[in-house]
Amino acid sequence: MEIQEIAIEDLDTKSFTEEKISEISTTVGDGLAINALSGGVDSSAVTMLAHKALGNRLKTFFIESGLMREGEPQRIATLFRGLGVSVEIVDAKNQFFDALKGATDPEEKREAITQVFYKEVFGQLVKQNNAKYLLQGTNYTDVEETVAGIKRQHNILEQLGIDTEEQYGYKVIEPLIQLRKSAIREIAKTLGLPEEIYNRPPFPGPALAARVIGEVTPERVEIVRGATKIVEEELSNTGAFQYLAILHEDRVTGIRAGKRDYGLQIEVRCWESKDAKTGSPTTLPYDVLEKLAERVTGEIDGVVSVTYSITKKPPSTIEAI
Ligand code: XMP
Repeated sequence: MEIQEIAIEDLDTKSFTEEKISEISTTVGDGLAINALSGGVDSSAVTMLAHKALGNRLKTFFIESGLMREGEPQRIATLFRGLGVSVEIVDAKNQFFDALKGATDPEEKREAITQVFYKEVFGQLVKQNNAKYLLQGTNYTDVEETVAGIKRQHNILEQLGIDTEEQYGYKVIEPLIQLRKSAIREIAKTLGLPEEIYNRPPFPGPALAARVIGEVTPERVEIVRGATKIVEEELSNTGAFQYLAILHEDRVTGIRAGKRDYGLQIEVRCWESKDAKTGSPTTLPYDVLEKLAERVTGEIDGVVSVTYSITKKPPSTIEAI
C-alpha cells in the first residue's frame, strides 16, 4: 500500500491542518469543490478544513439517503450552519431504495450504495455546480480493510483502481487518508468542532443499511432506526466505542396478547475498541440489558426477540454486513 500512515504520536495537529488547508486551496484553485457531510467525525473534519480553505467555493451537501438515524440530517445541517458552513440537504431517498431493491448480499448492497452516492448523486451535484472536485473523509483504516478484502468500504475508489474522473466526472480529494480515527478526532478538535462531533461514536458510510440483514426497504430501515434510537439512549453513558442495533432476516415465534406472533429479532452490539481493528463486547450490567429488551420489544412493532452479541472482533466485525 503506498499511502503512509501518520500515527497519532507523530501528528502535529496544527501544522497538519495548515498543510491540508493550503493543499486543498492549491488543488481546487479558483474552481468549486463539493463536499458530502454526514456528521461523522471524518466528514465533519473535512468539511471544516475545506471551509477554511475554500470559503464560498465549497458547496457542502448532506445526502438524505433514507438510511440515516432519526432527525440526523436536520440536526447536523443546523449545527454546521451555526459554525458558518452552509449545508444543503439533498433528498435522495428514492434513488437509494430503488438501487437496494431485491439486494440481499452484503457486498451487493454496498456496491449499490457506492453507485448511487458516487455516480448518481455526486455525479449530478458536480455537474449542477460545475465543480471538478469531491472532498471526502476517507481514513487509513477504510483503505486498509478494503485492500485486505475484509469489507469494501463504500468510500474506497482509487485504491480499487477506479478512475473517478473517467467514471464519475470528478476528482476526489481525501485529506485525512493517512490518519486513523483517533488522530482525526484530534484534528476535529483543533479545527474548533464541538465535542459532540469530535467525540462522536463511529457510524458507517452505508448507514443503517449496514445494520439490516437481508433486503433494505424503507419499512425495515424504520424498524432498525427505532431500535437504534433506543440503544443509543440507553448506552450513550457507557463510554463504549460504538453501540448499535441490527435487524435480522429470520423470524422467531413469540407471544403477544396471548397469541402466537411470528416476529422480528433485533441484535444489540456494544463494543470496546481503540481503532475498530479489533474489539470486544462491553460487559454490560444485566439490568441495562433487560431494559433494552423491554424497550425494544415494547416500543418497536413486531419485535419479539432481543439478543446481545458476546462475540469479539475477530471473528465478528463491528457492523453486520
Ligand atoms: P467493521 O464492521 O468492518 O467496521 O468491523 C469497522 C469500523 O468501520 C465502520 N464501518 C464503515 N465505515 N463505511 C464506513 O465509512 C463502511 O462501509 C463501513 N463499514 C463499517 C464501522 O462502523 C466500524 O466503526
